[in-house]
Amino acid sequence: MNLLLAEVAQATQRLADAGVPSPRFDAEELAAYVHGVKRGELHNLPDADFDARYWEAVARREAREPLQHITGRAFFRYLELQVGPGVFVPRPETESVVGWAIDALRAMDVAEPLVVDLCTGSGAIALALAQEVPRSTVHAVELDEGALEWARRNTEGSRVVLHQGNALTALPHLDGQVDLVISNPPYIPLEEWEYVAPEARDHDPQMALFSGQDGLDTIRGLERTAGRLLRPGGVVVVEHADTQGGQVPWIFNEEAGWTDAADHRDLNNRPRFTTARKATP
Ligand SMILES: C[S@@+](CC[C@H](N)C(=O)[O-])C[C@H]1O[C@@H](n2cnc3c(N)ncnc32)[C@H](O)[C@@H]1O
Repeated sequence: MNLLLAEVAQATQRLADAGVPSPRFDAEELAAYVHGVKRGELHNLPDADFDARYWEAVARREAREPLQHITGRAFFRYLELQVGPGVFVPRPETESVVGWAIDALRAMDVAEPLVVDLCTGSGAIALALAQEVPRSTVHAVELDEGALEWARRNTEGSRVVLHQGNALTALPHLDGQVDLVISNPPYIPLEEWEYVAPEARDHDPQMALFSGQDGLDTIRGLERTAGRLLRPGGVVVVEHADTQGGQVPWIFNEEAGWTDAADHRDLNNRPRFTTARKATP
């Protein structure tokens, strides 16, 4: 084992002792970041390249600062996004939510799909859709000025149209025209505050996490926004907590003008998102 890999092994142990959920991955990712290489290239680095900045980064991660705040970047599908304090770090489980939306858009017989991402945060979902669905127009809405600054940086030069505003009242000029509405909104119940991982609780903005006593306040509001924005036959895709798979599909019920409400699991086989179709009259 070369010196660098021995240091990575030592860092892995320190992170594991601190309760970091993926200690080896994070130790390697920090080493790769400090040395300006990809994780798979660590084996090729000469011993002499080892750097004290690595241990500073490890100490920050040990204190449960999010990995992505230390490196300043988050990977999401085919994107590398800029993230840091003030914006929610995009999560891997949201990638499967976007995957479902991409398949749904491809299955629609629409030449130039119109898409809305509500609660866009860093812009991750909107950017992935714009990148992977050619000829789509993607509008993204975010309320929080701090998050919006990151979204502006990330969407600069892209086809995403960014709006500051409340997702619950957003984009009235698009009413009845949108093919797909997608959202990863805040959904953690307020009472679960103490169970939230320190990376999220202490570093993600509160507005990105919590939404009322049962966590569903924003999703209830989004149901009305999606119902207003979608054309008949358009679809909505909403992420939720893995404990909410029994509740969220009921919000998109037939009395409110929805069909085909269904819940879906993520790659870890946990309930993760609800989809529904706006009924045709
Ligand atoms: C869980 S984060 C998700 C961010 C991003 N969509 C992602 O998946 O990485 C939720 C985001 O919704 C924003 N938000 C919360 N309430 C909102 C509202 N009423 N209108 C617009 N944005 C809102 C928060 O500021 C935060 O950026």
